[in-house]
Amino acid sequence: MDNQVRRAVYPGSFDPPTLGHLDIIQRAAQLFDELIVAIAVNSQKQPLFSLEERAEMLRECCTHLPNVRVATLEGLLVRFAQQAGACAIVRGLRAVSDFEYEFQMATMNRQLAPEVDTCFLMTHQQFAFLSSSMVKEVARLGGAVDAFVPPNVAHRLRQRFAPETAGNFHP
Ligand code: PNS
Repeated sequence: MDNQVRRAVYPGSFDPPTLGHLDIIQRAAQLFDELIVAIAVNSQKQPLFSLEERAEMLRECCTHLPNVRVATLEGLLVRFAQQAGACAIVRGLRAVSDFEYEFQMATMNRQLAPEVDTCFLMTHQQFAFLSSSMVKEVARLGGAVDAFVPPNVAHRLRQRFAPETAGNFHP
């Protein structure tokens, strides 16, 4: 592992990225020299957005963060982290209900790669209720999602669920 550069991986499905994800990305980017946002390929899930679409949305959201890059993650997260020379995995914790799953994952990852630590950031209170699944549900049912996702993501959701109202997106 490169001891000079403190590099971390922030993995997730990001289907789609929310303001909660962006908050974690911005804070992790301040804590580490480099942050790789890794979009996981999950054959068990049928995502709304393709990997390419999710990568594009995340890149658009991170243009102001020069030490953040977006990648796709196939296979084991810890192997990806090792190959990237990362010393940490970053995850956001919203509520106690997240803890069980996150604890299991962090413990398994530590067994597999003890040198890659998991670092939890508490989600800001205003995003504690937020999830990609809920955002998709609201958008699918015609609700406004502008308070929950970055503007470029809100535009993509409108294009997907209500193309007649989407118009053009100007960042
Ligand atoms: O945003 P999500 O869906 O909660 O992210 C879950 C993710 C991508 C972090 C998890 O499924 C993952 O790490 N996938 C990569 C495959 C892997 O390493 N699985 C073992 C984890 S213990």
